[in-house]
Amino acid sequence: MQTRILLPDQEGIQEASRLLQSGELVAFPTETVYGLGASVFLPEAISKIFHVKRRPQDNPLIAHIAEIEELSLLAAEIPKSFYCLSEHFFPGPLTLVVEKRADVPSIVSAGGPHIAIRMPSHDIARALIRAAGSPLVAPSANLSGKPSSTRADHVLNDFDGQIAAVIDGGACSIGIESTVLSLIGEPMLLRLGTITKEAIEAVLGTQIQVANAFSEKPLSPGMKYRHYAPLAKVRLFESEEGARSYSESSQKRCKILHPTALELYSDFRAADKEGIEELLVICSLEVKRDLALMNRLEKASQ
Ligand code: TXA
Ligand code: MG
Repeated sequence: MQTRILLPDQEGIQEASRLLQSGELVAFPTETVYGLGASVFLPEAISKIFHVKRRPQDNPLIAHIAEIEELSLLAAEIPKSFYCLSEHFFPGPLTLVVEKRADVPSIVSAGGPHIAIRMPSHDIARALIRAAGSPLVAPSANLSGKPSSTRADHVLNDFDGQIAAVIDGGACSIGIESTVLSLIGEPMLLRLGTITKEAIEAVLGTQIQVANAFSEKPLSPGMKYRHYAPLAKVRLFESEEGARSYSESSQKRCKILHPTALELYSDFRAADKEGIEELLVICSLEVKRDLALMNRLEKASQ
C-alpha cells in the first residue's frame, strides 16, 4: 500500500473521509499530537490500528468528536461533571472517561465498560470528523512505546506503506498528549497534560485524585507501559554542568537536551536518527514546573 500525503484543504479532507468510511486508516493532526484515525463504528478498521501500532490489545482508544451532540452516540451515562468540564475545556486537550454505550464496538474500549472521549480544537481534526460522519478513534500516531508524532514526517517514519494516508497539517501546537480524567466514581486524573489538575479542580470545585501508575490494577491500561521513549537511554540532570561532566566520562555518544513540551518528541526522534546513545536532559526549574513534561521525561527515562 502506498501511503498518500493529503493536503489539509477541502479536497484532502474529503478524500481522507472517503478512505475512513471505506475502513482505511488515516493519520491526522490534532493540537496535541497526530492521531491514527478510524471510524468508531468500524471494528475491523480499528483492529488494523492495533495491528500497525503493535498496540497491546488491552489498551483502549480515545473517541474524538467534533460536536457535543455526538456524545449521545458514545456515552451511556453523562455525569454533570462532564458538562461542567466540557463547557470550560472543549474543544481542547482534555479527554474524559465515562460509561460506554453497549452498541459502541467493544474493541474501542478494549473490552471494558468505559469510553474515553475528547473534542480536539484543531480545525483539520474537527473538519475530518464532520466529513467522516462519525466520531473517530485515534491513538497517537506512533509505534507503541515510541515517541508520539508531532509532524506528518514522524507518522511516515513509523507507518509509511501501512496506512492509507496522512493529512499534513504541519507541526502540532502543544506537542504532548491530552490530559485524561476518569469521571467514573470520584474524578481521577489518569494522564497529566497541559490542562492541569488545579485547572480541573477550580472548575469542579473539588479536589481530584491522581491515579497511581504503579498500583496493581492501573485504572488506565496505558499507564503501565513504557512510553514516549527514544532508542537512546534518557538520563535526567538538574544542571548542564552535571550533564557535561557525565558526558566527558561516558564512552557513549551523548547529546545534551534542553526540553520543551512542543519539541520533546521531535527531539527524541532526531536523536534516534543521529544515532545518539545517551540523551542527557536538563531539568531546569522551569521544566520541573511543567508537570506534564516532567511526567513524559520520567517515563522516557525509566
Ligand atoms: O492527545 C491525545 O489524547 C492523542 C490525540 C491523537 O488525541 N491521543 C492519544 O491516544 O494520546 P493514546 O491512545 O495514545 O492514549 C490514550 C490514553 C491511553 O493511556 C489509554 O490507556 C487511555 O488514554 N484510555 C483510553 N480509553 C480509556 C478508558 N476507557 N479508560 C481508561 N483509560 C483510557
Ligand atoms: Mg499514545
